[in-house]
Amino acid sequence: MSNKCPFHQPVPEGGDPFKAARESTGVLHTEFQGRAVPMILSHEGVVATAKDWQRFSSDAPVRVPIPSEEDVRTVRQYPLEVDLPEHHDYRKTIEPFFNRPKDPQMIAAVEAVVDSLIDGGLAKPDLEIVHDFAIPLQSRALAILTNAPEGDADLWISWGTHVFRDKEGKSKGFFLEHYCAELLDRALENPRDDLFTALTRMEIQGRPLTREEQLGYLNIVFAGGRDTIIHTITGVIGFFGEHRDALLGLRERPDLFNLASEEFFRVLSPITHIGRVLPEETEVGGRIYAENERVSLCWASANRDAKAFPDPDMVKLDRKMPRGPPRPPDYANPHRKTGNPPRWHPHPLDETPSRARTRLRANTRI
Ligand code: HEM
Repeated sequence: MSNKCPFHQPVPEGGDPFKAARESTGVLHTEFQGRAVPMILSHEGVVATAKDWQRFSSDAPVRVPIPSEEDVRTVRQYPLEVDLPEHHDYRKTIEPFFNRPKDPQMIAAVEAVVDSLIDGGLAKPDLEIVHDFAIPLQSRALAILTNAPEGDADLWISWGTHVFRDKEGKSKGFFLEHYCAELLDRALENPRDDLFTALTRMEIQGRPLTREEQLGYLNIVFAGGRDTIIHTITGVIGFFGEHRDALLGLRERPDLFNLASEEFFRVLSPITHIGRVLPEETEVGGRIYAENERVSLCWASANRDAKAFPDPDMVKLDRKMPRGPPRPPDYANPHRKTGNPPRWHPHPLDETPSRARTRLRANTRI
């Protein structure tokens, strides 16, 4: 594998490895997995590229994430790795579950998990925030979202921070895919009111989902919603650990919770970048890239673009976010909370129960 990956180079002074390239051409021509890949770095460029799905496509199983994931899954992730217009149908199919975080019962259930983790943490002399707090919170909240039996969350907690790779980045194999297949078999044998049973019964375009599609939905639910959430929770707690005044100030201003959350997603950029595939030969940043090569949308760089975010290296918990790209009307979502600019569809994260965050923030001892 090429060692040109910009994420594996020494971090320059100021902590922003993309600043120079972003402010000159807006594109960094680099390599991943031995292939030339242009990284789109500016906020404007990332937004424009994300919208231009005909030229920069997500219709590429296992190749939307960079590095690609052929060594960890065989299934296409739905609805991520599908372009419009089919993307719309794949999204609508799963939305009833992803809309559950608006449900007051789900909010109360997640709050109870947060409360119990905080109380448990306060009873100990020390708390290791990744394993004793963030991972249990992520896994138990996912069990609530999917309506899985609580015991399932205990297993998910044991998986650690990543489901695909170990700490060295080596593949853990296809264990997640096998596990998801077992969940679907279990759902067929013992139907419950959970996501797994629902997937075995869902239809798309008037036909039942195939097993591959069912697995593809579950794959991103387990993989996409894990290290992102763990990274965010630990990042927020780390920030408040170092900036107690900010925590106390925010406690007085609950009206700022949503803006503060967006600012944390901007600064932490839990997904650093993601790919698009070129359906045909395309010029990107002044160079020609062949059909089937990939382009990276670098959220982490776009989120530090001074043209979109003045004083981008400062954490301003009352920062007003720039408007995202225009959305097709039936994707419009008044609850958008993430700072990742170039999404124009609602996202499970958009509805994170706000009171659970309140309880988390209100606790100054963690
Ligand atoms: C801090 C947490 C998270 C961040 C920063 C994040 C970020 C993102 C981004 C940037 C995309 C768009 C990728 C693209 O356009 O190619 C995406 C898509 C997606 N994420 Fe997340 N995510 C987070 C948590 C979650 C969670 C908790 C789940 C599920 C339980 C989830 C499931 C998905 C799905 C299903 C998609 C595809 C959506 C679509 O294509 O319409 N994510 N996420």
